[in-house]
Amino acid sequence: MDKIIIEGGRLLNGRVAASGAKNAALPLMAATLIAPGLHTLYNVPDLRDTRTMLKVLETLGAAWTRTETEVRIDTSRLTGAEAPYELVKTMRASVLVLGPLLARTGYARVSLPGGCAIGARPINFHLRGFEQLGVRTTLREGYVEAAVDDRLQGNVVYFDSPSVTGTENLLMAAVTAEGKTVIKNAAREPEVGNLIDMLTAMGAEIQGRDTDRLTIHGVRRLHPTEISIIPDRIEVGTYLIAVAAAGGEATVTDCIPAHLPSLVEKLRGAGVGVVEHDTAITVTGIPPGKKDAPALRSVDIRTMPYPGFPTDLQAQFMALMTIADGVSVIHETIFENRFMHVAELQRMGGNIKIGGPTAIVKGKGRGGLSGAPVMATDLRASASLVIAGLAARGVTEISRIYHLERGYETMVDKLRGIGADIRIVRE
Ligand code: EPZ
Repeated sequence: MDKIIIEGGRLLNGRVAASGAKNAALPLMAATLIAPGLHTLYNVPDLRDTRTMLKVLETLGAAWTRTETEVRIDTSRLTGAEAPYELVKTMRASVLVLGPLLARTGYARVSLPGGCAIGARPINFHLRGFEQLGVRTTLREGYVEAAVDDRLQGNVVYFDSPSVTGTENLLMAAVTAEGKTVIKNAAREPEVGNLIDMLTAMGAEIQGRDTDRLTIHGVRRLHPTEISIIPDRIEVGTYLIAVAAAGGEATVTDCIPAHLPSLVEKLRGAGVGVVEHDTAITVTGIPPGKKDAPALRSVDIRTMPYPGFPTDLQAQFMALMTIADGVSVIHETIFENRFMHVAELQRMGGNIKIGGPTAIVKGKGRGGLSGAPVMATDLRASASLVIAGLAARGVTEISRIYHLERGYETMVDKLRGIGADIRIVRE
């Protein structure tokens, strides 16, 4: 089992570039299925999850090539409409091929993704929305079959909660539907905006970008396009928190500061210096043990849909709060089981108590964590353990790092580039 080994206590200084957003690359790669032809996507991160999405597209008959950051996908000939369990079970975002296949062929058969470490993660909102557009959905042998006889029919779709991939799936289905579709209580994440930009470039007619109400006027067909993936705001946030926890001063480049409104405010509230530039953010973490250094203050967070505090940064921020001075109340409102990192942080000395969707973190001040062998359980929990290891005294060994490799492009190299004593041991 490959492991990450970290010798904590090093200050982090220098510059690190953000990669393209995993959670934009996945829907945008799926969107290529809607229009036959050659599509080009720029700034695509090379991750376990983007490689899985390419396998899913290949299963459907698409052909692709990639350079370091560019991916060309040719969807001229589709030979299938089924996303198999073997692939979907490794990446639930495979369900994002449902909308495009319905728009292109009127039929799709996708394995139900099943739950994952952070929650049951049903797709009922997606399926209810498709039914609103005239699609028949049936669940059989763990697969969902979605079919429509002729064209999808535009309609009003209302989401009980603003599902990100639910909004993306319905957008991709509605672009060639007959008439007008209105999506109410839509997700407003920047990744949804990136998808809207791509669909518009393909000839779709969509109003309401960045709002919770999207209006789509269906068109007969779309054409291939080329599009750039936006920077990964969760990766950027992860590095900002890492520098705040380890201390030092570093700049994350190639990013969009406006995509992290709530994290920037929370870091400043904790006493961390944050300077926003056009396409970069500089963060100054308080060096541990520096005489009369201002303390890292405990702040409360409540995860919310964008532009609220992202659930995907909750685990990372909790690691920071374990070494603050005070008590931080962390409320996870999006997923029902997103505290898998707590037990591992406790093994490193974190003083955390969980009560349902709330964690109470009693900060132990800088130097409050000590390195230990820990185990990653899901993508963002892994990032939380890396941050804790960077701030801890001594050596931290993280196992099951395949979780991390799903969503962070060359994280170990990027952290070494700003001074971390971190390496991968391939076993
Ligand atoms: C997207 O997942 C992201 N994944 C997640 O990132 C992210 O945590 C999440 O949005 C919230 O921001 C991708 O974009 C590929 P939701 P998604 O539908 O779309 C419930 C990461 O670490 N719900 O917005 O699956 C659901 O259970 C990943 O990169 C239903 O009940 O999340 C959850 O409680 C993790 N029925 C809430 O809504 C549905 O049909 C929000 O889920 C859909 C969702």
